[in-house]
Amino acid sequence: MGIRSRPWDLPGKLPRRSNRRLWLLPSALLSLILLLSFYSCGSVFRRANNLGRNCLPDSGQISGGPKMRIAMVSLSGESRIGGDGRRSFEGLMETVGENKREYAEKGGYDFIDASDLIDISRPPSWSKILAVRSQLQNYDWVFWNDADTLVTNSSISLERILQAVVGNKDFQSSPDLILTEDITGVNAGIFFVRRSQWSLDFLNTWWNLTAFVRLGSSKSGDNDALKYMIRSLPSDEFESHVRISPMQCLFNSYPWFPTWKTALRLITSPKTTWQGAYSNGDFMVHLAGLDEKRKWAVKILKEINQS
Ligand SMILES: *[C@@H]1O[C@H](CO)[C@@H](O)[C@H](O)[C@H]1NC(C)=O
Ligand SMILES: *[C@@H]1O[C@H](CO)[C@@H](O)[C@H](O)[C@H]1NC(C)=O
Repeated sequence: MGIRSRPWDLPGKLPRRSNRRLWLLPSALLSLILLLSFYSCGSVFRRANNLGRNCLPDSGQISGGPKMRIAMVSLSGESRIGGDGRRSFEGLMETVGENKREYAEKGGYDFIDASDLIDISRPPSWSKILAVRSQLQNYDWVFWNDADTLVTNSSISLERILQAVVGNKDFQSSPDLILTEDITGVNAGIFFVRRSQWSLDFLNTWWNLTAFVRLGSSKSGDNDALKYMIRSLPSDEFESHVRISPMQCLFNSYPWFPTWKTALRLITSPKTTWQGAYSNGDFMVHLAGLDEKRKWAVKILKEINQS
């Protein structure tokens, strides 16, 4: 009886339903616009430097004095321990090695592939500490770069980057560790270490933080250990020994492309995303957290060689 006894409901309901359908159109349009503008963010980020972003502050003339001895150190190990296949570093050195060798030659630096120093009891990424430590006595600065990085603007010298962060200080009074920061904190993928006792102690303590070693995960733990060390430094020690570049894109840019995760990060930390997104003209790209690293590296190499 229920339905038939209330036929007068029907006329009232019909227009309401079509009202609702009318509303669908603008909200679908709005979603489409949001989606499209989100997708176009990628190309906006690629032009960030043309749009006024300044990663490399003009610090005037490179200070005189003897040329600093700088080593560019890297290694790449197949993930015998930890790491899943898609995120593997396999074959990366073959793809990026030449790019770095050429850059080093042009700038008068030594490029050192320290892959033979890998300690196989930990995920390979930890061995960067051993690699840097092994060269520290031979150079003024060691410039560490993970295997999943590329020099994308070879007309920017390491001296210019150091000067942009350190200023015109002489070698003895320079800070010892120069880092960049992303949304999650300091990044262990690319950094500078100065030859000093402090640096040596720092590297030894970092290597000893074995509680952070992660096995069988896509995270190796060395970056978390570094974050922990930086957090636990007394503030006066931090101030005299560590510098974090105000702009991540000074030497550690990440390619930006739309996913749920990057969308969320863009909304929660727009400034940090902007400061770290890879743009044409940036010094170095870091394929941090990306799968198919080799494909990415090949694609970016093609782009920079064409321009
Ligand atoms: C690191 O650990 C080794 C072995 O346990 C120890 O000999 C060394 O003193 C430690 N170094 C630092 C800086 O903690
Ligand atoms: C490389 O960087 C310099 C200095 O920031 C800039 O003037 C130049 O346009 C960049 N090169 C390319 C190919 O973008």
